[in-house]
Amino acid sequence: MNYPEIVRIKEIVEENPYVKSIFIPFSKTIEPGQFIMVLIPGVDEIPMSVSRIKDGEISFTFKRVGDATGKLFEMEIGDVIGVRGPLGNGFELRGERILFVGGGTGIAPLLPAAEKAKHLGKENIIVIGAKTKDELFFVGEMKKLGKLIISTDDGSEGEKGLAADIAERVIDEEKPDMVVTCGPELMMKRLLDICVERGIDFQASVERYMKCALGLCGQCCIGEGLRVCKEGPVFDKDTLIKCSDFGVFTRDASGRRVYFG
Ligand SMILES: Cc1cc2nc3c(=O)[nH]c(=O)nc-3n(C[C@H](O)[C@H](O)[C@H](O)COP(=O)(O)OP(=O)(O)OC[C@H]3O[C@@H](n4cnc5c(N)ncnc54)[C@H](O)[C@@H]3O)c2cc1C
Ligand code: FES
Repeated sequence: MNYPEIVRIKEIVEENPYVKSIFIPFSKTIEPGQFIMVLIPGVDEIPMSVSRIKDGEISFTFKRVGDATGKLFEMEIGDVIGVRGPLGNGFELRGERILFVGGGTGIAPLLPAAEKAKHLGKENIIVIGAKTKDELFFVGEMKKLGKLIISTDDGSEGEKGLAADIAERVIDEEKPDMVVTCGPELMMKRLLDICVERGIDFQASVERYMKCALGLCGQCCIGEGLRVCKEGPVFDKDTLIKCSDFGVFTRDASGRRVYFG
């Protein structure tokens, strides 16, 4: 697991003008919420959540934000990348009614999670949010997995507003047993507070800048020394409520604090 496996890209799906999915061969067992380290030759190695799990292949879904994702965006079928994983823990889907809330590229790991929940016979309610209609993805797939509510900041599709605001209303109407979320940290923090207040079970997939992804370097720590690459990236309500930096700041590659908001 410590060495990347060299694989050829099998398929590329353009989810929208800014987001692509890359399919690669993958024969190991991987759970929704777990991630892989993707080595882009000559550029970088970056964490990516698994976004589809099929027999012998997986996908990861990404937005072009910098050097590594920019290079991935230009890659073609047959190009070579390295893959380490599965890494970290997965979602634990508890209760009978689960509300999934995904914002931006945080929608990606929720697709296999909602698929698994449906397979387990759970009732899914799904809120996906984006800034604008063009930035939404997985709408068709999510529709098949439960009651789907779309939100956009500008109202160009679905309900106008922030995903966290829409989700708060949905929580009060639908009374889910659990909220499972991934997306901007301020959105997840807001949902954490709502779930603590109402006594609802909660899990979030947290992002931190990663280097080794092996639990060695300490770069990805949150709270009192919790390693997002090892103890996470999925954390429960009781753990996150004790992390005073959750929803407040992250750290860049040199360890400097970068405040949210
Ligand atoms: C466990 C985990 C799973 C992830 N899964 C996905 C995924 O499924 N899809 C996806 O698109 N992205 C995902 N990410 C984020 C992704 O790894 C980063 O966006 C990527 O490393 C950026 O690399 P880059 O070289 O393209 O950009 P960089 O040049 O490194 O950064 C460009 C911009 O993005 C910001 N950035 C970089 N890393 C992060 C980060 N971890 N969180 C927030 N902002 C960051 C930088 O501050 C900078 O402003 C995940 C991160 C983690 C920790
Ligand atoms: S990235 Fe090194 S400990 Fe997590």
